[in-house]
Amino acid sequence: MEQPITQVQKKTVLSGIQPTSRLTLGNYLGALKNFVAMQEDYDSYYMVADMHAITVRQNASELRKRSIEILALYMACGLDPEKSTLFIQSHVPEHAMLNWLMCCNTYMGELSRMTQFKDKSAKHADNINAGLFTYPVLMACDILLYQANYIPVGADQKQHVELTRDIAERFNKAYGDTFTIPEPFIPKVGARIMSLQDPTSKMSKSDPNPNGYISMLDEPEVIVKKLKRAVTDSEGEITPNPERAGVYNLLSIYSACLGKTIEETAAEFAGENYGTLKTRTADAVVSMLEPIQAEYKRLLSEKDYLGEVIRNGADKARARAVKTVRKAYHKVGFDSYKL
Ligand code: TYM
Repeated sequence: MEQPITQVQKKTVLSGIQPTSRLTLGNYLGALKNFVAMQEDYDSYYMVADMHAITVRQNASELRKRSIEILALYMACGLDPEKSTLFIQSHVPEHAMLNWLMCCNTYMGELSRMTQFKDKSAKHADNINAGLFTYPVLMACDILLYQANYIPVGADQKQHVELTRDIAERFNKAYGDTFTIPEPFIPKVGARIMSLQDPTSKMSKSDPNPNGYISMLDEPEVIVKKLKRAVTDSEGEITPNPERAGVYNLLSIYSACLGKTIEETAAEFAGENYGTLKTRTADAVVSMLEPIQAEYKRLLSEKDYLGEVIRNGADKARARAVKTVRKAYHKVGFDSYKL
């Protein structure tokens, strides 16, 4: 007898970005661009990680406003609320509910090895709070709540996804199969966009020198100016050598914008000078960001629509998250049917 055709269940994707300030070209090329590409083929959950943002002191009304703006920026990049679940983390209390369980299954030693904790505690020496330390556990909960298979992130988040796998495996071993083990999904080109002023350190929205980063909302003239000033070297030749950090970074940006490999791009620029590389990189960045900026401005004027997307997103996310919390609570011996 012929087998009935069954629909193959889509795998799940989850990721998030902190609403700490305006997003950079690094956030876009390392993560957001993949969020958009993946929404077609996966059951996708994309959140604004506002709970993570308060590990560093925030102004309340600015945080609230920025969280909505980042969600609008997600949509301006092409995330479609009909295809993906778009939500703000704090609107789904299950993140905090799972957090305690997972804190009790994570070792202090594991958390103290996290590079981001070491970096952030050095930067905010006056506010090394417990949240900063346990932050990767909350990130693990974000992922595990939705039983996500793939996590599109830049290279700097790989360590956190690996920790998530370790915590989930530990829990599954102790209590029986509960969580899907996730895998990081890191782009081949653009996973680590570097500062334009110091190409040995990551491009970051918290860089005090605005010439070091390109904001996704920078005006075209500003983008051109920043790229013209980008630090290169004195060799004068364009080759795909990671040791020549400044040139390699420009090649990465150009390649990631156009979806090419670094080798293809380096071949295209063979014999050209740095000025040409900078101008053409600026053109590629501007043509990629301009339509996003226009759509972002349009969306911000649609307050009611945005509010509706945010409320629906939270409902859809909660419906999924509550199932995992019930399951995990029951496994540890809590009366989960009361939830
Ligand atoms: P965040 O907000 O620091 O960065 C958001 C995403 O952008 C990527 N990224 C970069 N990629 C390439 N080059 C760069 N210079 C660059 N800078 C940032 C990051 O790798 C990240 O993918 N903990 C996360 C947010 C988070 C999360 C989650 C992510 C919270 N819960 C669950 C995935 C799943 C963070 O601080 O990212």
